[in-house]
Amino acid sequence: MTNIRNIVVLTGAGISAESGIDTFRDAGGLWEQHRVEDVATPEGFARDPELVQRFYDARREAVRKVSPNAAHEALARLDAEWEGDLLIVTQNVDDLHERAGAKRVLHMHGELLSALCSRCEARHRWSAPLLGQPSCPGCGEQALRPDVVWFGEMPYEMDRIYAALHRADLFVSIGTSGAVYPAAGFVREARELGARTLELNLERGEGSYWFDESRQGKAGKLVPEWVSQILDT
Ligand code: APR
Repeated sequence: MTNIRNIVVLTGAGISAESGIDTFRDAGGLWEQHRVEDVATPEGFARDPELVQRFYDARREAVRKVSPNAAHEALARLDAEWEGDLLIVTQNVDDLHERAGAKRVLHMHGELLSALCSRCEARHRWSAPLLGQPSCPGCGEQALRPDVVWFGEMPYEMDRIYAALHRADLFVSIGTSGAVYPAAGFVREARELGARTLELNLERGEGSYWFDESRQGKAGKLVPEWVSQILDT
């Protein structure tokens, strides 16, 4: 892969599957266990905040019990050794990229280890349960919610993501079904701006058509192979 200097990597739930975290749309996934409308919309939170807090408290607890896998570690190596631009845009709310050592990470759908105050809009690093309505350390109000982007809400740092897509020579998508916009539209954007596009996924995603190349398999195998291909050759 010659003439590649600036890379954007998009990751989804599939990259954390081998660490033991459920994906959303695979068989037995989170959206088979819970109704999206109940746990991942502002309306659902208004209707039953306890149900929503319990859902994210359980996910926060589950993430604490697992570890990064070979795919996270390979991207952390790329981050450490790649001299050009690199941005790892993750749709995931777990902290496995960072625990593997990656630094150039952007959480476009928020993070489980962060709480957002609906009153003063401050964000706080958070590892304890939110059920029981702890007070906001900033304004003191009992208005903390999971700092996660719900359906109908705007993802975070879209300007920074589009700026990186504009500079990218290579766009790589890992472990995502391509079912949710705006992330599902990044491949087309990158391609139309002249970047090379590569999909690494267990099966072809919904936007697979837009990729120059698509490799099927587990991220724990495909990602280390790709990283050594781009760093060692
Ligand atoms: N290795 C590689 N890919 C995998 C693996 C694996 N071990 N296991 C599953 N996959 C693939 C599946 O084939 C699927 O295409 O990962 C993808 C997971 O898709 P989703 O469950 O739809 O997750 P994701 O694409 O991240 O969802 C996007 O939707 O629910 C919202 O906000 C949530 O960020 C999430 C967004």
